[in-house]
Amino acid sequence: MSDWKIEIERCPEDRRGAIPTDGSKLGFGRHFTDHMFVASFRRDGGWQDPRIVPRDSLGLDPAAMVLHYGLEVFEGLKAYRSAEDTIHLFRWRMNAERMRRSAERLVMEAPPIDLFGAGVEALVSLEKDAVPRAEGCSLYIRPTLVASDPFLGVRPADEFMFYVLCSPVGAYYASGFQPTRILVEQHDVRAAEGGLGEAKTGANYAASLRAQRRAQKAGYNQVLWLDAKEHRYVEEVGTSNIFFQIDGKVITPPLGGTILPGVTRDSVIRLLKSWDVPVVEERITIDEVMAAAAAGTLEEAFGTGTAAVISPVGVFGYEGQDVEVNGAQVGPLAQRLYDALTGIQYQREPDPFEWTTPVP
Ligand code: COI
Repeated sequence: MSDWKIEIERCPEDRRGAIPTDGSKLGFGRHFTDHMFVASFRRDGGWQDPRIVPRDSLGLDPAAMVLHYGLEVFEGLKAYRSAEDTIHLFRWRMNAERMRRSAERLVMEAPPIDLFGAGVEALVSLEKDAVPRAEGCSLYIRPTLVASDPFLGVRPADEFMFYVLCSPVGAYYASGFQPTRILVEQHDVRAAEGGLGEAKTGANYAASLRAQRRAQKAGYNQVLWLDAKEHRYVEEVGTSNIFFQIDGKVITPPLGGTILPGVTRDSVIRLLKSWDVPVVEERITIDEVMAAAAAGTLEEAFGTGTAAVISPVGVFGYEGQDVEVNGAQVGPLAQRLYDALTGIQYQREPDPFEWTTPVP
């Protein structure tokens, strides 16, 4: 993937952790492999010292700018094991490019695309045995960029650490590929125009937690965000982009700066176009969604994300009412997309878009 020379320090046997082999016990983001990839950046030396080391604490100074001003951006991608025991990454370059754009928004220095790719590939190659065999499971990869300068003034940072973790995962939602209950959030907002919404940065997730907790206490899995100005236009779901199928047409909100440009979102749009299913990136108000539900034309709704894959929506909670979608069952379109996407990811189907990359 590149000319970067990556030093490897292997984790001693007696420090290795056990990871459940039973897929149903994995959950999401709880277990980590024994190694991590690390590289550092200094203004005077550029990116240097790419290495794989035993996973450990980072040795950050307590004054590191990430800890004070939230100078952090991250990515999420997955490696999948095929029935032939080969391992493949899915669209890793899109993640590397998105990290660059997120970093630009926070005036951070992103790793070059080939360093990102080389680090991910070398780490996954070393951790191959940790890519789960169980159905529906995968190795979630978390590239992370933090500002490490010890400095308390508010200015763009000069020193960065890029590191990559691997976590064997099952389904993001405990209920698996079952319809979710989504509460339309009418008070808090995730992102305003000109803000950080399209950057994959921890602050966006921090801002979401109060509403997420309220929703979960009320019996919902996640929230549906509305726009910050008018509280009318649908934006995205807590950890995924959102799609509606209304009267045969698939609609997803456009990327206008406040919405995360999801890799799965893009893949779903491309799959739908290749099937000649009408799909548009258009603004849609929550009133239009509710009117379609009342008229019986809201055929399906589903979230898309690396962690969430395709997650059908069974119920929208809005203004005190629960509105069912497709009788709270998985719809045919969500099922077809899930099968097509996972078919490509696990190499069960051909990969006409060349989305997957084998890991040597
Ligand atoms: C992902 O889908 O990769 C995400 O980053 C969502 C969430 C787990 C933060």
